[in-house]
Amino acid sequence: MQTRRHFLKSSVITGSAILGGGSLGLLASQARAMPNVVLQPAITEFPIISNLPAQKMFSYTPGGPAPILRAKQGEPFHARLENKLPEATTIHWHGLRLPNAMDGVPFVTQPYVYENETFDYIFTPPDAGTYWYHPHCNTLEQMSYGLTGILIVDEKDTPDFDDDVSLNLRDWRLGSDGQFIDLYKARKSARAGTFGTVKTANWSQNPTYEVPSGGIVRLRAVVTDVTRIFKLTTKGAKATVIALDGYPVPNHFELDHHAVGPGQRIDLAIRMPDEEGSAVELINTSASKAWTVATLKTKGLSLKRDIRDLKPLPKNPVPVPDLQNAEHIPFEFTATAESAPKNGFCGTIGFSFWAINRKSWLGVSPDPMEPLAELKLGKSYVFSFRNRTPHTHPIHLHGLSFTLLNSNKRKIDPFITDTALVLPDERMDVAFVADNPGDWLLHCHIIEHQKTGMSGFIRIT
Ligand code: C2O
Ligand code: CU
Repeated sequence: MQTRRHFLKSSVITGSAILGGGSLGLLASQARAMPNVVLQPAITEFPIISNLPAQKMFSYTPGGPAPILRAKQGEPFHARLENKLPEATTIHWHGLRLPNAMDGVPFVTQPYVYENETFDYIFTPPDAGTYWYHPHCNTLEQMSYGLTGILIVDEKDTPDFDDDVSLNLRDWRLGSDGQFIDLYKARKSARAGTFGTVKTANWSQNPTYEVPSGGIVRLRAVVTDVTRIFKLTTKGAKATVIALDGYPVPNHFELDHHAVGPGQRIDLAIRMPDEEGSAVELINTSASKAWTVATLKTKGLSLKRDIRDLKPLPKNPVPVPDLQNAEHIPFEFTATAESAPKNGFCGTIGFSFWAINRKSWLGVSPDPMEPLAELKLGKSYVFSFRNRTPHTHPIHLHGLSFTLLNSNKRKIDPFITDTALVLPDERMDVAFVADNPGDWLLHCHIIEHQKTGMSGFIRIT
């Protein structure tokens, strides 16, 4: 108990917690029986705007942002959810290929976890990279009030970076008194979504992190916002894109206003300037007025690293689809539905604006809809995503990773992902091996779109 409290406290101070079974300093047998981390979602108070009164927020640890969790590739990870919220919740591990029962979707993969109940999430991440976690229950409220955290799965062999900084990028719907205002406006839900008013990284506005002068820094940006698509670029030094959505890119490229939507992640390598006190800013340019998301500042004598020494990250063991024999399945994302939606449970907001293959699903319910597609275990599939709306949708598939093969609108260097940003009128093919049995959600990660119909699931048996 003592140990856990100590960790929770330190995670509040630093905004990040490094929690590995080994780091608790216990015997291996005890460590195995104990969770690596205990997450206690609860109502807490925190001042997002420092000179205004604190808001009531939801957090996974008392008094501050969710801890940055670390798991190790190929080693069991155990997180215990102890729900201290006065409502049901669950945890979804976004982007991880894990057993269906650990996926955190109420009524689809597990029951609700009510107040004071616990649930143990135990899985062994096969892939290294940058992931995140969030509830899959009353999602618009629970995420908008704060329940989003980063999960890093460390590579088996630690890559050669001089520092590793993670940014949880998200906005808040706060009024001028610093208190929460209405989380969405229905007419905006029917368009791009309702944007936050205060923009933060790790719950603070343009935080600064000290990193070694002349060092190579791994900067992980995780968009956990419910609405905003970022366009990221840097000032003060160039940044190299080394991974997208957790997966190493086949060829490094320079960051240049790269779009990162809700649910997506980008890993950058930045060779910091040699001079102490130099600033490198990460900037968002997706809105009419650009702003600095976070700043890295150099400290100490230059490490004089050479960016050309940067080695590609090791590949993750994702099975390669057999494109010759793959079955093609079309998915159309539209603004209209043909089938009348059933009443959604788990935080439906009551409107139906969006659909996948002409069906709207407003939320998970004890009586879910039919699967959008039934897949055979072990077979290869190509999903053709077609966006027939004038808005961009980050389309996320649970439990599997897919290769984004091509698009009718842009040139794509095929890469592996779990969340594809599908542009207006875009058609893209994504391929994967259906190697993970179960019911897996497929939905837009703009949460208002998800909650107003752009959601469904596929079944693999
Ligand atoms: Cu972050 Cu259903 O997903
Ligand atoms: Cu959408």
